[in-house]
Amino acid sequence: MRHEERVKAAHAFTERFRRPPRVGARAPGRVNLIGEHTDYNEGLVLPCAIDRDTVVWAAPGEGRRVRIHSLTNGETAEFETGALARRGAWVDYVQGAVFALGPESVPGADLLVASDVPTGSGLSSSAALGVALVHALAALRGEPLEPRDAAVLAWRGESEFVGVPCGVMDPMASALGRAGCALRIDCRSLQVTRVPLAEGRAALLVADSGVRRELASGSYGNRRAECEAALAEARAAGIGAAEARSLRDFGLDDLPALERALAPVALRRARHVISENARVEAFCAALAQDDLAAAGARLREGHRSLRDDFEVSTPELDALCAIGDALPGVYGSRLTGAGFGGCSVHLADPERADAAAEALAAGFAERFGRRPPVLRAAPSEGASLLSAPA
Ligand code: GLA
Repeated sequence: MRHEERVKAAHAFTERFRRPPRVGARAPGRVNLIGEHTDYNEGLVLPCAIDRDTVVWAAPGEGRRVRIHSLTNGETAEFETGALARRGAWVDYVQGAVFALGPESVPGADLLVASDVPTGSGLSSSAALGVALVHALAALRGEPLEPRDAAVLAWRGESEFVGVPCGVMDPMASALGRAGCALRIDCRSLQVTRVPLAEGRAALLVADSGVRRELASGSYGNRRAECEAALAEARAAGIGAAEARSLRDFGLDDLPALERALAPVALRRARHVISENARVEAFCAALAQDDLAAAGARLREGHRSLRDDFEVSTPELDALCAIGDALPGVYGSRLTGAGFGGCSVHLADPERADAAAEALAAGFAERFGRRPPVLRAAPSEGASLLSAPA
């Protein structure tokens, strides 16, 4: 959010709660460049934080009561930190943050949240909310968090309390993002390496297919279960190292044996994860050599794998990628995030990115009768604390 919008939100806090906020925190959404459905298989991902964020302003509250108002949906909710109970509503994210921080140690608080991360389109508005909340609540109790701890706490809040079976990628990207860089994250060790994004030579376009999906709705959980089943089949067939504990432990060399031993669906899921981990490495290598054509080719391969092997694309996402890949100045395109709807990401020449964005929207509109929002995303800094405006 722009500085003025943050200040406006702080004033809205003062008006609503009759005193100014004491602390604030902001956390961005993310777009994943490559490495999809690999995080929960302990594999590699390459997201970057984007220049859209969620802000939480906070001040100590009464007793153990937490009150929160959202400028995004205009709703207010409250709960006692000693009586957390899932309600199936957005306030669960706030309860989830308290749950992860340890309800006993979180003082009562008044909170106000504002955001310009589009919701429900796969740019991790929920991770941005979770990371901003744990940062703000921890700062309020006088114990600011390290970025990695904030990511893991936000992840625990969302997966263990809210009940969304997500991986660790989104809060890691939101908490640890760096301007101008993508983050290569090893989702087993949580080791993060910054990968500069060919500054001045590459732009990122993100197009929203307009198809909404819920991670909690089942298909995502099915894919996770299918990956576990594929792992079990591979182990039962004696393929890979004896100590293999996730699909991460298999490499391209194992594919011929897997092709012989696995049932068709298990094979397709495993082949996506194994080849996707290799593509993350290949994409990083291409960036290191400033070879954007090669990087783009990896994106196109990644999309085909998500479409044909992992089967999480939609006609709208396939169309966005096909239109993008045919445009001058676009190196490569793929769906980003969980799939089943949401957004596509396109690596483009900055000089031609605006024209490509327009052509993408127009080409999609010709086929589907509506113009998709296309934003130019800048790889941005991860979450940070904000001091309350005077
Ligand atoms: C969603 C999840 C992530 C990750 C992606 C797929 O965005 O929240 O953890 O699994 O899907 O790569």
